[in-house]
Amino acid sequence: MRDAPLGIFDSGVGGLTVVRAVQRLLPAEDIVYLGDTARVPYGSKSPETIRQFAAEDVRFLLSHGVKAIVIACNTATAHALPALRESFNLPIIGVIQPGVEATLADPETERIGIIATRGTIRSHAYQHALAQRRTGLIIHARSAPLLVPLIEEDWLEHPATEAALHTYLDPMVGKGIDALLLACTHYPLLVPTLEAFLPGEVRLVDSATTCAEHLARLLDERSLARESGEGELRIHLTDLSEEFEQLAQRFLARPPGRIRRAVL
Ligand code: DGL
Repeated sequence: MRDAPLGIFDSGVGGLTVVRAVQRLLPAEDIVYLGDTARVPYGSKSPETIRQFAAEDVRFLLSHGVKAIVIACNTATAHALPALRESFNLPIIGVIQPGVEATLADPETERIGIIATRGTIRSHAYQHALAQRRTGLIIHARSAPLLVPLIEEDWLEHPATEAALHTYLDPMVGKGIDALLLACTHYPLLVPTLEAFLPGEVRLVDSATTCAEHLARLLDERSLARESGEGELRIHLTDLSEEFEQLAQRFLARPPGRIRRAVL
């Protein structure tokens, strides 16, 4: 199984931020990526629909012989991870546990802000996972639905984005936060903007990097890591358009190669 590819899926192309982090840490691994661009966004859909879509995404990746699956999508992790683990017999990891562990890695961290899609915030998955690991935390969770389209529009420095950040973040920053958990595939692209926007003492936690670290540990523990070679990335999208190809390049920070159309 060591030489089998990893499967990574997301509602769209945002999950390529996780692919980027995985490639940096595990350059020998082949990756099959599925972006469900025909049905994006997941962030505003019901838990039942997300569970159904996520199961279809997993079946597609299994048909490509993957050895383990990463749910790069925060919303899909929030609603579907336990159900997927019950239904499918291979290691499946999501972005929530790694993000939570990275947030709590600093023992001084007590006041935590979380921004994410509506679905992720409403699921309370991050809030529960944090509270289970440390008592006495003060958590400010806020859905930030405008950030995904603003990032996709490449309006990272735009006044509209600054206005949205004021609306979403000023209340929690006003109360005081030690860390801000970026609980959405798209937000790593906003890190430079957020670093300039937030007070210097607020630590930014990006779940893409920590998820890749988690995956590396899991592959190692289960003797599933590919030992040598140069990994290949194959991207499949359920809807292909020029726009998605351009977005894929931005999220991956390099040309994505040939993108294939996936039929689920
Ligand atoms: N991938 C989603 C997430 O991380 C954001 C985009 C969407 O709503 O589908 O929650």
